Parts: sequence; C-alpha cells; structure tokens
Amino acid sequence: MECMKFENKLAAVFCAFCFIFIVWQLQTADCRSFSVDYEKDCFLKDGKPFQYVSGSIHYSRVPRFYWQDRLKKMYMTGLNSIQTYVPWNFHEPIQGIYNFKGDRDLEHFLDLANQTGLLVILRPGPYICAEWEMGGLPSWLLQKPNIVLRSTDPDYLQAVDNWLNVLLPKIRRWLYSNGGNIISVQVENEYGSYFACDYNYLRHLKVMFQYFLGESTVLFTTDGNTDWEMTCGTLQGLHATIDFGTDTNITEAFMRQRKFQPNGPLVNSEFYTGWLDHWGDVHAFVKSENITSMLMEMFALGVNVNMYMFEGGTNFGYWNGAEFNERYLPVVTSYDYDAPLSEAGDPTEKLFAIKSVISKFFSVPAGPMPPPTQKYAYGYVSLKKVSCITELLDDLCPQGPVHSYYPITFEEMKQSYGYMLYRTKLPKAFQSPTPLISPLNGIHDRGYVLINGLYQGVMERDTTLVLNVTGQEGDYLDILMENMGRINFGSNINERKGLVSNLYLGNYILTDWLIYALSFDEAVSSGLLQAEMRHYHSTVRRIENLKGPTVYKGTLEIQNVAWDTFLNLKRWTKGQVWINGINLGRYWSTKGPQQTLFVPGPILSTSVPNNITVLELEEASSTKQILFMNRPQLNNTVMRGEH
Ligand SMILES: *[C@@H]1O[C@H](CO)[C@@H](O)[C@H](O)[C@H]1NC(C)=O
Ligand SMILES: *[C@@H]1O[C@H](CO)[C@@H](O)[C@H](O)[C@H]1NC(C)=O
Ligand SMILES: *[C@@H]1O[C@H](CO)[C@@H](O)[C@H](O)[C@H]1NC(C)=O
Ligand SMILES: *[C@@H]1O[C@H](CO)[C@@H](O)[C@H](O)[C@H]1NC(C)=O
Ligand SMILES: *[C@@H]1O[C@H](CO)[C@@H](O)[C@H](O)[C@H]1NC(C)=O
Ligand SMILES: *[C@@H]1O[C@H](CO)[C@@H](O)[C@H](O)[C@H]1NC(C)=O
Repeated sequence: MECMKFENKLAAVFCAFCFIFIVWQLQTADCRSFSVDYEKDCFLKDGKPFQYVSGSIHYSRVPRFYWQDRLKKMYMTGLNSIQTYVPWNFHEPIQGIYNFKGDRDLEHFLDLANQTGLLVILRPGPYICAEWEMGGLPSWLLQKPNIVLRSTDPDYLQAVDNWLNVLLPKIRRWLYSNGGNIISVQVENEYGSYFACDYNYLRHLKVMFQYFLGESTVLFTTDGNTDWEMTCGTLQGLHATIDFGTDTNITEAFMRQRKFQPNGPLVNSEFYTGWLDHWGDVHAFVKSENITSMLMEMFALGVNVNMYMFEGGTNFGYWNGAEFNERYLPVVTSYDYDAPLSEAGDPTEKLFAIKSVISKFFSVPAGPMPPPTQKYAYGYVSLKKVSCITELLDDLCPQGPVHSYYPITFEEMKQSYGYMLYRTKLPKAFQSPTPLISPLNGIHDRGYVLINGLYQGVMERDTTLVLNVTGQEGDYLDILMENMGRINFGSNINERKGLVSNLYLGNYILTDWLIYALSFDEAVSSGLLQAEMRHYHSTVRRIENLKGPTVYKGTLEIQNVAWDTFLNLKRWTKGQVWINGINLGRYWSTKGPQQTLFVPGPILSTSVPNNITVLELEEASSTKQILFMNRPQLNNTVMRGEH
C-alpha cells in the first residue's frame, strides 16, 4: 500500500499551509490503486484481490445514443468490467486532423461506463485487428510507398507518436488511480502473429505508454495461444495474457501463459462467445452450453475473463475489415458475432445463460434487465432511379479527375475508402469479344466495367480477372472500383486499393486514365443524390436498364414512433445504403449470409420523410422495392465462398 504512504506525506506537506485542504483530502483520498500481485497471482484493486469478468463492446460499432443502454445491460448481466478498442483510423481520418466528437467521443463512452459502474480494460492499439478496416491503422500511412507497418520504421513510428501524443493525455484522467475507471491498458494487439517480431517497436510503445500513463499503470499484451505467437508478442514488463475460444483445452492454454508469464493473474483477454462472418460464409454461431461450461471452469480457476464480443454491433459505412486466407475475404456489415447481446443490443438466451454462471461466483446486481429496444416492420418502400454512375460524376467528384498514364491507387489519390472511377478510351475498335485482363491480380477489390455507360460485368480480385468486352475506337471504358475493406490481419495489412496494376485489353496495355475519387457520403449528405432523375447528356441510346452501378432514392414516412428496423434488399444484388445521410454499410444479397442491415431507430424522423439512397452496383430488383422488417436475417448464405 505504497499509495497510502505517499498520500500521507502529501497531506503532511500541505498541512502546514492549509487546514481545509487536509479535511478535503481525508474525505476524498480513498487511495485508489490497481496493480498486479505477482506473489498471490492476482490483480489487486485498492489493495484487495480482484478478478475481472469483462465483455467487449466497441463504441465505434454502436451508435452513441445506444451506448448507455448496452452498458447497462452488460452491468445487469453481472460484468464488473468492459473491454474496448480505440480504432486509430476512426479518430485521425486525415493525418493531423483528429475527431473525438459524436460517435467518436471516447471520453463520453468512458464516462457512461464509469457512471454505470463498469471498469474498463482499454486497448488503444495503435493496431487493433478487430475485423476493422486495416486493423485500425489509418490508410494514409500507405501514402509512403515502402512503409513497414507495426515496426520501428521511422515514418510509421513518427505517425504513431503523434497519435499517442493526442490520445494518451486524454486517457490519463480516466485511469483508475486518477479517479477514473481504466484498470489496465493493452500495448499493441496480438503482435506475436505479425511477421515483423520487432521488439524495439514493442519497447518503444511501452516507453510511450509509461511516459503518458505513469509507471504504475498495468500494461499488458494479448496473444494467440501458441509458442510462436507468445514469443514475438510478449515483452518483459508487460503482463502477458492469452486469448482462446471454446475449442481449446483450458489447462493447456494456461500452461502456455505460465510459460511466458510465470507469475501474476491468469487472463483470457478474448474468450470467443461467437465468431464473425465473411461474405459467402455459412453463418457462424457458438452454443451457449459450450460458453457456460468453459466460463464455469475458468471462474473456478480464478481466471480473469473478457468475453469477446459481448456486444458486437455493426460495421457501419466502410469500416469492415477483411481476411486474407489464400484469397481476399471481406467481413460482412453486421458484427453481431452471435454475441450475448445481439447486433441491435437485445439480450439473448446466451446472455441469460452467462448471467446465471456469473451469479454462481460473483454478486450480480438486483433488478430487471433492460428490455430489448422496440422493433418495427415498416414494410415495403419503392425506390426510383436517380441515375447511373457515369451521369453523376460532376456531383460525386466536383474537383474533377486526375490524369495518369498508368492507373494509380486509392492511397496515391488520398482516397481512404469507398469508390473511385477509372476512365480511359478504347485504343481501337474491338468487334469480337476481347478479353479485358488483370494479369497481376490487380483488381482491389471489385471492378464494375462499363463501355459508354453500358454495363459489361464485374471483375473481382482473386476470382474473376478476365472479362470479354466489345466496343468502338474512342468509346469510354469506365471501371468503378470498390474498396471492400482493407485486410485487418497478417502480413497483407499494407495492401493498396483500386487498380493496383495495369489492365490489358487483348494485347494492348490500357493507358491515359482519368481517375475520379468519388465522394458518395458528401454527395448524399448535401442532398445531391435526392434530386429528380437526371437528363442524360450522353449520346448513347438509353433503355430502362436495371444493370450497372446506379443510384436509387426513396422516402420512408413514419407516423408515430421511430423504432429500430432491419432493411432487407432481397432481389437486389450488391451495394451500399444511406438513410438520412447515415451510411448503414454494404449489402450483398446474392451472397449472404447477411440479408438485413440494422437501421437504428434514432436516425429516423417522424416529422419529415426519411431519405433513402441506395447505390446498387450490379443489378437492381425489377420491382425496385426494399423491405423494412422487424427482425434481422443474418443466416442465409445464397452463394458459398470458395474457401
Ligand atoms: C467515476 O465514477 C465515480 C463514482 O461515481 C466518481 O466518483 C468519479 O468521479 C468518476 N470519475 C470520473 C473521471 O468521472
Ligand atoms: C460444444 O459442446 C458439445 C457438447 O455439448 C461438443 O460436442 C462440442 O465439441 C463442443 N464444441 C466446441 C467447439 O467445443
Ligand atoms: C486438457 O489437457 C490436460 C493436460 O494435457 C488433460 O489432462 C485433460 O484431460 C485435457 N482436458 C480435456 C477436457 O480434454
Ligand atoms: C471470350 O471470348 C472468346 C471468344 O472471342 C471465348 O473463346 C472466351 O471463352 C471468352 N471468355 C470469357 C471469359 O467469356
Ligand atoms: C429529406 O430530404 C428532404 C428534401 O431534401 C428534406 O426536406 C428532409 O428534411 C430530409 N429528411 C430528413 C429526415 O433529413
Ligand atoms: C442457420 O440456417 C441453417 C439453415 O437454414 C440452420 O440449419 C441453422 O440452424 C441456422 N443457424 C442459426 C444459428 O440459426
């Protein structure tokens, strides 16, 4: 209890000057401390042994107005802590420009957790994985061509230091010992699974964290449960923890932790309550019985457990990550994760099963679990075509295109996310079907091909690198390139987006590109894409055509209450949806397993019509209708992936 001695000394010094100050000290100095006891192999909170029961919730995946509701439900389940990541790219969208407002208000989230009575295990990265776009790293890091991410590369470290200089001072007052609720802070994330194995990088982060958060803050690492991961991921002075799910032998897992961390508390930093889906996967789920039996065993052993996820939430906008496992596999929009709280924050049967296990070992607060939020099936809404993409370039790219002899990437164009259009002209007439080829697999990640505005088909990374086209000399060849989310795990996290290598048409290398960086979100927010159908200024004969990248609009009018709802785009193909300017994420109805997008009630208006914008990339439903349902549909795989 060193802290008490220090406090006493402090009080004694002030005693001579100010009696009132001492009285205040005696009332408030309750000697808050959080530390590791390496003799008793446990955490100490205020000097007493402490075991945490925690659940992961990522504030970046839950709308701000629902933070309190989700936290309250976690508290009522009997958790004493939560764990969250801080996604760097969510807060520093442009180098040197920081955003901590609204849904990005980390301190408000910490405050709500504190008010709810929850301690916080903070995982500030800089890399987080998390199935989040580029593992939380800002894509602008890739503007430097040869940067080595997650290493002592000087450009990478400089950017990290600038970020930590902004983030960590905000965190300081939220440390438990400073009167806040943060009990421990993770350094990096599963660093042992990354190829670099650069101990100087981990040492550098440790120095930075200690400089800003003090020497006594509990710092830890988390790694997969293998020797090779623990070898590169752990560092002397950082408490080494492990993560594993229901397929693991608990005894063996903690033998591994002990091998690298001979003393101190046993910790499973990510006990998997479910799992994620990629497009084309069979929907993942993990049985409650498997969760509860393992929790029981771990609690009995005194293990500190964080359940990953407890509330998964949603990859709104462009925030989903991707895996690279022989081929590129983007993560779906929903991050429901089959977690105890559903994507929409509803307590599930799994939550109550977990609560009952917790109550056998810990005291669970009395009182009712907050009810699920209200859901409503608003039914069908008919959409109207606004225009196909090639007619909207002035609105989507007001600054005009960039000319480049060979194609350049999103990163070179300083376009982080979303879509860009690459335009060139056919060098000669191709009367018979001629292959458009990406010989170096350079379509990152999908390219929607048009000739003079007429849709030809899609090219796709790793799977469809050839597409036959025909056309006249001088015809426009347009390729709308979609960034489907950067890889969040492994050695490919430095991949670039867009057309990353040359395209051939027959034997011709295509050159002289005009590249349009498209700002869909800005155009939607400023109402540009809600205007009436455009007059075509192209000379090509138009027919009512459902194919090709096209913007559709519609309105949903609500009479009484704005409740949560789920948007189903059955018989549409693939695209992106905005409601009232909020980017709800991607749909891919012809693939699945996810079929509905979560629409949080609070974004809907009851007084004015709600504006819906759909960017359909391939082919619209012939009825042009979309359906608002009162329940999610996350388990309907239409087309299987090939992995
Ligand atoms: C956290 O909550 C406690 C208990 O309500 C309160 O005393 C403390 O001031 C709060 N901390 C911060 C940083 O707001
Ligand atoms: C879950 O538990 C069942 C028995 O209830 C068992 O057969 C199965 O292997 C377990 N699954 C996992 C992933 O541990
Ligand atoms: C787990 O591993 C230990 C040690 O290898 C072994 O004794 C035990 O039987 C295993 N438990 C299960 C459930 O397989
Ligand atoms: C492209 O067209 C040629 C005929 O010109 C045909 O042999 C080939 O199979 C076609 N390729 C594809 C991918 O459709
Ligand atoms: C939808 O757009 C109309 C016309 O631009 C606007 O008046 C209305 O306020 C918008 N609705 C919402 C909910 O923002
Ligand atoms: C998902 O759907 C399949 C096929 O309809 C069904 O067998 C399975 O039980 C469903 N899984 C869940 C978790 O609902």
